Amino acid sequence: MAGPLSFSKLPLDPRRIWKLNKVVFSVIFSNLSLIPVGLSLARYRYWTMRSSDDYLTDIQYNPLRPINKLDVYIPREPAQTMNSSSVRRDKIEKGSLRPVVVFIYGGAWSSGSKLIYTLLGARLRSMGYLVILPNYSIYPQGTVKDMEQDVKIAIQWAYNNCLELGGDPQQIYIMGHSAGAHLCALTVLNDSIKRIPTSLFGSSPTAVSDSPILSALLAERAKEEQGDVLPRLRGMILCSGVYEIGEHYKHESMRGVEQISAMARVMGSSEPTFRQHSPTNVLQELLQVSTRIDRHYPTESQTRHQNMLRHLRSLLPIETLVIHGDKDRTVPLRSSSEFFMELKTLQLGPSARLRVMQGMAHEEPVVALMPSFGRRAPFRQPLMDEISHFIDGDKSAKNARREARRA
Ligand SMILES: *[C@@H]1O[C@H](CO)[C@@H](O)[C@H](O)[C@H]1NC(C)=O
Ligand SMILES: *[C@@H]1O[C@H](CO)[C@@H](O)[C@H](O)[C@H]1NC(C)=O
Ligand SMILES: *[C@@H]1O[C@H](CO)[C@@H](O)[C@H](O)[C@H]1NC(C)=O
Repeated sequence: MAGPLSFSKLPLDPRRIWKLNKVVFSVIFSNLSLIPVGLSLARYRYWTMRSSDDYLTDIQYNPLRPINKLDVYIPREPAQTMNSSSVRRDKIEKGSLRPVVVFIYGGAWSSGSKLIYTLLGARLRSMGYLVILPNYSIYPQGTVKDMEQDVKIAIQWAYNNCLELGGDPQQIYIMGHSAGAHLCALTVLNDSIKRIPTSLFGSSPTAVSDSPILSALLAERAKEEQGDVLPRLRGMILCSGVYEIGEHYKHESMRGVEQISAMARVMGSSEPTFRQHSPTNVLQELLQVSTRIDRHYPTESQTRHQNMLRHLRSLLPIETLVIHGDKDRTVPLRSSSEFFMELKTLQLGPSARLRVMQGMAHEEPVVALMPSFGRRAPFRQPLMDEISHFIDGDKSAKNARREARRA
């Protein structure tokens, strides 16, 4: 694991080559079956989106990296407030503000583009959400720190701009798939932990210095601008995510793809940096630190421990939904169940839910939300139900919105 890995070191072990070919073939085949989706995507992108003002495309959001842009999918307003093409979005009443979904795509930190996810954006829009879909700095343009920063700034952009687009800044959701789920979880933890007041870590600084992850995070906050924080998020939807880089590296090695995967390089190619960028390990160290605060004053320590968790809960998204398929071979289900277990151990459990989808594979959460052209999409309805239940809560609110749309 030491040092950056390079392609020239690719060993000529025939078994490994076969494993690699298997992976490449399966990618090609799944892509062939996606051709109709591609055509439909092009039509949507270059016809529907161009000829309507319900979409904004290629908006710069991060002044530090202007090459990264985002698209906005604006749901049609209820008929009462809609008037031909000159919609007065600033006039939308409070009651009809839409939940906002910021979607962070996956692609192993080294591929993907908002273009590919156009039809997914369209689907979420049709469910009544204001959708924000950013491009972010994939490897080798950026490493995990740049990606975290892009995700953070995209969320801030959503918060600052959604109101005039008919979105509710109090109802911002982030949704990520695979590497995107990893980035969502990491960005949120990075931001929340830095905002826990130092006093809650106890009077002796040793507890924190025993944790490399927390020490690094807390050292960073001294350098950062005050007030450069995330807004409070209503919820986080994490699909098929990687939450522990070290474990995933082992899994990649088993599949023989660790040397073509960019992950190790993105994450700094060393065990400490792997841990630093693993949401599961971040939560583990947080728990260790919080139970070790002021060992000599157990009662006081217990109170501090509780106060710290309470404070953290007040910063994290109000609710979290973790979704993973048990037939996922790219990222095993264990990834989500272990991350979820840490959330529960930290008593962040009551507001977090793990949904294991029986028989679901890795790509399914995004593929099922796109048009299927005759292919079976058994997970589409369950996923849509899961998402709309999470965001809209009980059916009455949802139906009211649907009625308004139909009227
Ligand atoms: C829409 O706006 C135009 C002027 O911009 C107005 O003449 C028309 O009556 C409006 N239609 C509705 C349905 O409100
Ligand atoms: C970002 O989006 C634009 C337009 O959709 C695309 O041309 C560009 O290649 C994307 N960049 C990355 C890094 O994905
Ligand atoms: C935390 O996020 C910021 C971007 O907001 C990034 O620059 C920094 O490197 C991240 N810290 C860690 C430890 O990942």
